Amino acid sequence: MKRMLLVALSTAWLLPAVSLAAADPKLVDSCNDCHGDKGVTTSQDVPTIASISASVHSDSLKAFKAKTRPCTKVSYKRGDTKRQGDMCTVAGKLTDAEMTALADHYSKLPYAPMKQPTEAAKVAAGKILHDRDCKSCHSNGGKDPADDAGILGGQPATWLKAALADFKADKAEQPKKMKDKMTKLSEPDLEALAQYYASQQ
Ligand code: HEC
Ligand code: HEC
Repeated sequence: MKRMLLVALSTAWLLPAVSLAAADPKLVDSCNDCHGDKGVTTSQDVPTIASISASVHSDSLKAFKAKTRPCTKVSYKRGDTKRQGDMCTVAGKLTDAEMTALADHYSKLPYAPMKQPTEAAKVAAGKILHDRDCKSCHSNGGKDPADDAGILGGQPATWLKAALADFKADKAEQPKKMKDKMTKLSEPDLEALAQYYASQQ
């Protein structure tokens, strides 16, 4: 008995300091009720969360819980679609450990850009703005999760437009350099940027 304890103690250092619990499948399912199968959206008013970096994902959940990021009420896309919900309510019920596990879970799922119609003239105007103001932090058309700046390329145009308007109005936390650029953009600029990112495949 004593010997076994000694063996256990002497090998304890081999284990990682914090072992990450797997995300609860029921919880994942409840997220996918809005965000789509495997976190890939099929709805214009909900973003894809598959492959967003774990740090950005858990920071977003914390911001929703603290209500420092605006939450839009939307209808569920699966199950009882008459039900409505919003991220502040959803994140409000999550523990820190659940947030970490969910963020890790979704970061490992493959991204799939949404196929949607876009307007060529606006896409071209948006590309010019993106190259000038956004590319330094949102590389590869805003599609690289390694930027730790969310994923913009291939997200639904409606969600993009709403997110951009929130940042322009400074309703959500953002780096100072992004804020400086966002405040200078006009309404047509936001529309052009949303169309540009929506067009990225
Ligand atoms: C009722 C629908 C609904 C449910 C359920 C839901 N979400 Fe959301 N989620 C949204 C909407 C809508 C947004 C866009 C932000 C907004 O307008 O509130 C969003 C945004 C997010 C974002 C930010 C994405 C980005 O690119 O900025 C993350 C992360 C997220 N949700 C994770 C989750 C997780 C994890 C769950 C499950 C615990 C979940 N969501 C459940 C509707 C939902
Ligand atoms: C200095 C670097 C930087 C610049 C420049 C910048 N961004 Fe960002 N952006 C970020 C970071 C970092 C985040 C993640 C913010 C967070 O969650 O705290 C972000 C988040 C976003 C989001 C939300 C992503 C999501 O998944 O929720 C949008 C939309 C966005 N940026 C658009 C833009 C646009 C459009 C421009 C150009 C006008 C721009 N950004 C310029 C760094 C930058």
